[in-house]
Amino acid sequence: MQIISIVGARPQFVKLAPIHRAARAAGVDHVIVHTGQHYDPMLSDVFFEGLGIGEPDVHLGVGSGSHGVQTGAILAALDGVLESKNADWVLVYGDTNSTLAAALSAVKLHIPVAHLEAGLRSFNRRMPEEHNRVLTDHAADLLLAPTEVASAHLASEGLADRTVLVGDVMTDVLFEVRDRVSDSPSALVEELGLERRGFYVATIHRAENTDDPGRLAEIAAGLGGLDRPVVLLAHPRVVAKAAAHGVDLTQGSLIAHAPLAYDDLIAAALASAGVVTDSGGLQKEAFLLRVPCTTVRTETEWVETVELGWNVLANTADEIAVAVARPLPTPTHAAPYGDGHAADRVVQTLLAWSSGGRGSDGAA
Ligand code: UD1
Repeated sequence: MQIISIVGARPQFVKLAPIHRAARAAGVDHVIVHTGQHYDPMLSDVFFEGLGIGEPDVHLGVGSGSHGVQTGAILAALDGVLESKNADWVLVYGDTNSTLAAALSAVKLHIPVAHLEAGLRSFNRRMPEEHNRVLTDHAADLLLAPTEVASAHLASEGLADRTVLVGDVMTDVLFEVRDRVSDSPSALVEELGLERRGFYVATIHRAENTDDPGRLAEIAAGLGGLDRPVVLLAHPRVVAKAAAHGVDLTQGSLIAHAPLAYDDLIAAALASAGVVTDSGGLQKEAFLLRVPCTTVRTETEWVETVELGWNVLANTADEIAVAVARPLPTPTHAAPYGDGHAADRVVQTLLAWSSGGRGSDGAA
């Protein structure tokens, strides 16, 4: 069996790692196509190297652009690639422009498409990620849901018979990296001379937090006013927008720093007093590490982190200050994101559903 994984942005490389390993262990011919949406070495190469994925088989090199240009460039480039292969499945990941373009391309060539991390919803139609995930779910043949909540969203949209609850592959990789780094010092702590539990790790990159000058200025000032150093692991988008808007990303407690490789990020989060972020992945990673998280958004797809008390939504500077200073949440053994073996389940499901057959545990 041949599976073509199509990825392009940083969180997809993290999810790709356990899938690649599980596919190879099952004897699957796993072809990796990198769209080139993320091309900076710290957003791309360090993940392929650090997570043991190796090199992509095909690199489309599309780079940056407006949503239409980026999505269209990926679509145009994929036809030839997919026609030259013999895929049983195209596997698409998450909610980026690469996800939507890859799903559309495969559907139009009548190649079965599976969507990993299906069924997440923010119900905020201003977010590009929300269009991408809704459209991808409705285009795909098989919906691999990470959580019960995601499965329920798909059912309510009439997609239950294409849905399989597999768990969250990010849990697979996170547990492994946590165990690898938990006894070693954090490179970030050493580099900046920070005290363990004496700083916050922050990431801000979403369009709704970076595109508007006033919004970005408010967030930077809010983070700069916190009670401990805040290390902002600055995505190229926030660096570019801050320069264009004249917003200083190093002010008060706020220190801008380059993004980290995955192991270093997890070690830094583990050593921190808390995480402040608008990233979906980091909200969940903080929960799995049991590090308090403050999410700079008005809603989240990962509602379990909020319900269990480990994540608080905070949109204004004042709300952020109150949220980071809250007492430690109540410990929990809840495992809404699975047991760390989701990737094996994904590959077994793809094998069971190939050739039009559906596994006996097909619909969830
Ligand atoms: C994308 C995803 C988002 C995901 C994020 C993870 C979409 C719509 N958004 O957002 O869901 O959470 O990736 O990081 O697909 N840039 C660089 N170097 C790079 C990549 C981007 O400089 O390697 C800059 C460019 O100026 C570009 C901007 O960042 O225009 C935005 O990049 P893009 O890939 O379009 O979206 P992200 O903001 O990264």
